[in-house]
Amino acid sequence: MTQPVLEISGLHVSYATDRGPLRVLRGVDLCVGRGEITGIVGESGCGKSTLIAAILGLLAGNAGVEGGSVRLAGRELLDLPEPAMRALRGDGLALVSQNPMAAFNPVLTIGRQLTDFQYRAGIPAAQKRQRIVEMFGRVGIVDPDRRLAAYPGQLSGGMLQRVAIAAALLTRPALLIADEPTTALDVTLEAQILRLLRQTRDETGTSILFISHHLGAVAGLCDRVIVMYAGTVVEAGPVAEIFARPRHPYTRRLIAADPGHLAIAAAVPGREGIRTDLPTIPGRVPDLTDPPRGCVFAPRCLEAEAHCHTLPPPSGAVGPAHRAACHRIMP
Ligand SMILES: Nc1ncnc2c1ncn2[C@@H]1O[C@H](COP(=O)(O)OP(=O)(O)O)[C@@H](O)[C@H]1O
Ligand SMILES: [Mg+2]
Repeated sequence: MTQPVLEISGLHVSYATDRGPLRVLRGVDLCVGRGEITGIVGESGCGKSTLIAAILGLLAGNAGVEGGSVRLAGRELLDLPEPAMRALRGDGLALVSQNPMAAFNPVLTIGRQLTDFQYRAGIPAAQKRQRIVEMFGRVGIVDPDRRLAAYPGQLSGGMLQRVAIAAALLTRPALLIADEPTTALDVTLEAQILRLLRQTRDETGTSILFISHHLGAVAGLCDRVIVMYAGTVVEAGPVAEIFARPRHPYTRRLIAADPGHLAIAAAVPGREGIRTDLPTIPGRVPDLTDPPRGCVFAPRCLEAEAHCHTLPPPSGAVGPAHRAACHRIMP
């Protein structure tokens, strides 16, 4: 196997809070292969955005990395000095966030900002503009002159997200990180952005880390899926395996609770009355100032046995490139 673009191992991150340290990531391991689209799913609050901030070196002031390693193309990022990290954010790593408005300065035109983003390219302004126009064509932005002259507030959310993706790609990143990039968009725009991400990977070979709580989007876009729960990876594997043969009880419950399933049930004639409520997973996410001693999911797991509450389960192979951390499935 070629060297992965991103390799995270044993990552521990805590936030200092009034109630003591919030142990938000506890031993996270994950890999993104070259040219691969990897999805991260998990309920809100499970640590997805914290993980991304740790990769980008943009953790909040009260956060501390307590151990582990984050390597981009073999290079350790956790002990990189801030200037080198900043250079990398303009070069090797790019982020597309949930709110594209926050990614732009409201008082500068789109053209000016996308020109500035290429400060490291060392090419004349006219050539930078030419690259932007080409990139706009690739992400389906017609009428580039008008968009370049516009201020961020003059563009719709969907258009601005396209511009944000174009801006990210202008730096030719080794890894594009998209944190809930379609959450603020309607379903039609979401489908367009997902197509765009896949096409971008197919054409440029950029690796993508795609974070979403929308399982349907992940199923349609990603090659591999990482399932996170309460700051840990509970299952990881090829997308078809995860959705067709989910092994961890949390993954199974997450899929069963996805509104997409309800839409499917509602669309089947004669089944309308069967289930219209949104099945939720009973119980609540554990308090991470005092994480469970055993399996993090045990307090909500219908299959938990006594030892699940006392011993953390090891992550073991359950199929080719498919791992899960559950006592019940590991002998
Ligand atoms: N700066 C912070 N200080 C304290 N707690 C935080 C901070 N940022 C996030 N958290 C908490 O950390 C947990 C994980 O948050 P986050 O990484 O944003 O999860 P996700 O992106 O999966 O929703 C949540 O409980 C959140 O409230
Ligand atoms: Mg988040």
